[in-house]
Amino acid sequence: MQNVINNGGEANIPRHVAIIMDGNGRWAEAQGKPRIFGHRNGAEAVRRTVEAAAQRGIKFLTLFAFSSENWKRPKIEVAALMRLFSETLKKEAPRLKENNIKTVIVGDTSRFSETLQREIDEIQALTVDCTGMELRIAANYGGRWDIAMVTKALALKSAMGLIDPSSIDEETITSYLSVPENVDLLIRTGGEKRISNFLLWQVAYAEIYFSDVLWPDFDDAELAKGIDFFRSRERRFGMISEQLRDKDNAD
Ligand code: FPP
Repeated sequence: MQNVINNGGEANIPRHVAIIMDGNGRWAEAQGKPRIFGHRNGAEAVRRTVEAAAQRGIKFLTLFAFSSENWKRPKIEVAALMRLFSETLKKEAPRLKENNIKTVIVGDTSRFSETLQREIDEIQALTVDCTGMELRIAANYGGRWDIAMVTKALALKSAMGLIDPSSIDEETITSYLSVPENVDLLIRTGGEKRISNFLLWQVAYAEIYFSDVLWPDFDDAELAKGIDFFRSRERRFGMISEQLRDKDNAD
């Protein structure tokens, strides 16, 4: 990663961008290479994208690296992904720190090897005080898992008398999620048009940009297209255009 100078925010930039990084396998297969070759180049695209997002002044970037369902892939591919994940965390940690990027791994990390869990703890501890962009890497993550975890935590607290069940509202639930910010722009690469159990609660009002680019080819220019798409949308949050114009005039 190069040194990143956060530009403090272009106009109307999405605060929280989430990305479903799809197409590594197809990218490799198109070149007659093994799928892991696609994942390795996908890790390069992750590095480029983190840098580009920070430079553009995005505050939160959440990347879907490994879903709860990805364990069903061939053992050899899962093992290669775990190795790549571990290598990338170790390699990128010092640069993330230098660039003031707070890095958090979200998902059920208890299923990972002890070594990988330790590396996750290390990168999180190293960057805990960073105040720039917040990078979340979703690993062994599922949107339903996230909501189930919140439900369990709130039920336990209620049973222990620590929280009044009648006080639980949408904000309470959001604040307990492993990614406690609404997504403004969701990008999915690789041509598919699905949410795939990513940030289900958090994408409620997200603009969704589907890109045909395969993830290893993703770069700042493609990110810019997603941001331009976001800027071109009118976010009504259930209101009508006229109300938004009145609101803008009052602000
Ligand atoms: C989807 O492509 C990609 C994945 C399941 C893994 C994502 C991993 C990376 C981008 C690399 C490592 C990431 C980090 C954070 C170090 P696919 O294999 O489903 O592609 P396909 O649809 O073409 O088969």
